[in-house]
Amino acid sequence: MVLLPNGHPLVAGSASASPLVRALRGDRPERTPVWFMRQAGRSLPEYREARKGTTMLEACLDPALVAEITAQPVRRHGVDAGILFSDIVVPLLLAGVDVTIKPGVGPVFASPVRTAADVAALPSLGSAADRGGFDRSLDVVRQAVSASLGLLGETPLIGFAGAPFTLAAYMVDGGPSRDHLEARRLMIADPETWDALMNWAADAAGLFLRAQVLAGASAVQLFDSWVGSVPRDRYVARCAPATARVFSHVGDLEVPRIHFGTHTGHLLEDMKEAGATAMGIDVTVPLDEAARRLPGVPLQGNIDPAVLGAPWEAIEAHVRDVVRRGLAAPSHVVNLGHGVPPDTDPEVLTRIVDLVHGL
Ligand code: CP3
Repeated sequence: MVLLPNGHPLVAGSASASPLVRALRGDRPERTPVWFMRQAGRSLPEYREARKGTTMLEACLDPALVAEITAQPVRRHGVDAGILFSDIVVPLLLAGVDVTIKPGVGPVFASPVRTAADVAALPSLGSAADRGGFDRSLDVVRQAVSASLGLLGETPLIGFAGAPFTLAAYMVDGGPSRDHLEARRLMIADPETWDALMNWAADAAGLFLRAQVLAGASAVQLFDSWVGSVPRDRYVARCAPATARVFSHVGDLEVPRIHFGTHTGHLLEDMKEAGATAMGIDVTVPLDEAARRLPGVPLQGNIDPAVLGAPWEAIEAHVRDVVRRGLAAPSHVVNLGHGVPPDTDPEVLTRIVDLVHGL
C-alpha cells in the first residue's frame, strides 16, 4: 500500500467513494458523474478576475491561485471533479525548458527540438528517488494539489499531463501547428531521435503525474489531444511505447487512468492498450460504438462543445442522447468531446450538470 505524505493510505477516504472514482472503476453510482475538460478557464468571469495581471504560467506556479481556480467550476457548477489548474507544458517549464504560453495561441518554445543534438541538450530529469532538480521543482505542483484538496473537500481532484506525442508536437514545431507536420516528419525521418525525445517527454509527464497522485489526486487523465493526426501503424510503433512509459510512472498507484485524444477514432483500442483504465471519447465516435469496440472499459465524454451555443432544447436532446448511448458501456463519466470553448455561457454548463444529475 502506498502512503500519502500525511500518512493516510492512498485513495482511502471520501474521494475514493465519490461518484467519479466509482464510475471510473466500472461502477454505476446513483448519480452519474459529470465534469468538463477546460472547465476552469475563460468562460468563467471569476477566472478572468482571478487571472488579472498574471500570465498563464505564473498562475500555474502559484499554489493558492491554482487552488482557487481549480475550485471555481466545482463551486459554480457542482461538477463531480476538479481538474488541477495547470498546463501540459508546466513539467517542461519546471524541467528548465524555455516555453511560454501566448494568449489566444498556445505554447511557444524558444528553441524547437529537431535534431539528436537538440534532444541531447534537453535538461536531465533525474528520478523521483534521487530527489534531483526536476523532482524538487515539482514541489510547487505538490503544494498546488494540497491547496486544491483543501478547497475541494469531498470532491475528487483529477491530475493530468500531456502525452508524449502532443508534447512533442509542440516541441518539434516550436508552437501550435495545424497538422503537426514537423513532428510527424521527424518521426519518419529520424526515428531514433524521435524515440529519444518521446522518452524524455514521457518521463517529464510521468513524474509530473506521479507527483500529483502522491499529493492526493484521485484519478489522472493523460491528454494526447493531437495524436489523431498519426496513422495507426505509426502510432503503434512510435507513440504507444512512450505513452505506456508515462502510465508506468503511476502504474503502482491505485488511481484510475483516463486517456483522451481528439480525432482518435482509428486509435481507440491501441490507446487503451497503452495502459489506460478508462477512455475519453471525442465527438467523432458515438459512445455506443466506442463501448462495442472497448468492451468492459469505462467511458468518458462526449457532448459536442459546438452544441453549447444552441438553444436549450437542442442541448438537452443531445445530452440525453449522449447519456443513453453511454449506457452501452459498463459505466460513464459525462464530459465534453473536447474543451469548453472560452465564449460558452457558464449557465449552460450548470444546467447540463443539473440535467445529468437528475436523469
Ligand atoms: O480546466 C481544466 O481543464 C484544467 C486546465 C487545463 C489547461 N490546459 C488550462 C489552460 C488543462 C487540462 C490543459 C491541458 C492542455 N493544454 C492541453 C490538452 C487538453 C486539450 O484541450 O486538448 C493542451 C493541448 C494544452 C496547450 C494549451 N495551453 C493551449 C492550446 C492553450 C490555449 C491557448 C489560448 O489562449 O487559447 C493553453 C493555455 C491554457 N491552458 C489556458 C487554460 C485555461 C488559457 C489561458 C488563458 O486563460 O489565457
